[in-house]
Amino acid sequence: MEMDVAALSTSTRIAVIGAGAMGSGIAHVAARAGHTVYLYDMNAEAVARGRDAIGKDLRFLVGKGKLAAAEAEAVLARVIGSSRIEDLADAGLLIEAIVENLEVKQKLFRQLEELAGPQAILATNTSSLSITAMAAVLARPERLAGMHFFNPAPRMALVEIVSGLATDPEVAGTLYDTAKAWGKTPVHASSTPGFIVNRVARPYYAEAQRVLAERAAAPATLDAVLREACGFPMGPFELMDLIGHDVNYAVTNSVFDAYHGDRRYTPSLIQRELVLAGRLGRKSGQGFYDYRDGAEKPAP
Ligand code: NAI
Repeated sequence: MEMDVAALSTSTRIAVIGAGAMGSGIAHVAARAGHTVYLYDMNAEAVARGRDAIGKDLRFLVGKGKLAAAEAEAVLARVIGSSRIEDLADAGLLIEAIVENLEVKQKLFRQLEELAGPQAILATNTSSLSITAMAAVLARPERLAGMHFFNPAPRMALVEIVSGLATDPEVAGTLYDTAKAWGKTPVHASSTPGFIVNRVARPYYAEAQRVLAERAAAPATLDAVLREACGFPMGPFELMDLIGHDVNYAVTNSVFDAYHGDRRYTPSLIQRELVLAGRLGRKSGQGFYDYRDGAEKPAP
C-alpha cells in the first residue's frame, strides 16, 4: 500500500497508556526519537517503576558507549509520568498498552477519543485482540489501528501495523512511516486473531508445554535444545517467562476463542496453573524459572 502520508513530526506529543513492560519500552522508543511522551498508568507506582525502567535502560546504553550521558538525560526528561488521564489531552498519537482484555480496552478508548481531538490517532499494542471489535464501540473507528511492538520494545525491530475493517488507510500509513522514523521495521497486517507473529507462535509455545507435560525434559534442557539446534535466540520457556504468563495465557485464550475452539490453539493447563499461582515469570520473580535472588535457575 503506497500512500502519500508522512511520519508524525517530533513536535507531536505521544501518550502511552499503561506503564508496564511494553508501555515503558514504547515510551523509551518514542522519546529516543525526539518526541515528548506522556507515560500514563492508572497505578501511580507503575508510572514511577516504568520511568525508572527507562532510566535504567538508558544508563545501560551509556555504559556500553552507545549513547551520550547528556542525551540519555534529555531523553528521560522528555518522558512525563502521569496518573491523571486528562494530562494526555494534547497528544496527537495515543498508544495503549494496558491489560489484554477487549472490554477494558474498549472502555479506555471511548474515554481517550472523548479526551483527544478528532485528528488524534489511537493505537493499540494488543497482541491478539480484534482491532475491528475494539474500534466498533467508537464514534470514529477509522482513527484506530494496531501498533504492535515486541518485547523488549527498544531492542526488537519489528512492529505490526494492524488495520481493522474501519481503519483509515492513511492512519495505518502514518503509523507505518512513524514506526520507520523511530528506527523500526514495520509491516502492514489485517486484523486476524494474533495477527502474524502471535498466530504462528501459538503452536510453538503449546507444543513446548506438551513436551514438558510428557516429562521429556526440564524447561532448561528444552530451552537449550531449541536455542542451539533450532537457532532461536530464546527457548520457549524463558521467552514465556519474559513475556509474562498472564499476558501469554490471555493471548492464547483470545486466539483459541477467535478460532471457535480450534484445538491447535488449546491453552496449556501448566500455564494456567502458573497464572493461578501468581507465578507470572520475570516480573513476579517466578515462572518456569526462579529469579528471586537475581540468579536464573530452575524453579523448584
Ligand atoms: P504489564 O502487566 O507489564 O503492564 C500493564 C500495565 O497496564 C500495568 O502497569 C497496569 O497498571 C496498567 N493498566 C491496566 N489496566 C489499565 C487501565 N484500565 N488504565 C490504565 N492503566 C492500566 O503488561 P505488558 O506486558 O506491558 O502488556 C501490555 C499490553 O501489551 C497487552 O495488551 C499485551 O498483550 C501487549 N503486549 C505484550 C507483550 C509482552 O511480551 N509482554 C508483547 C507485545 C504486546
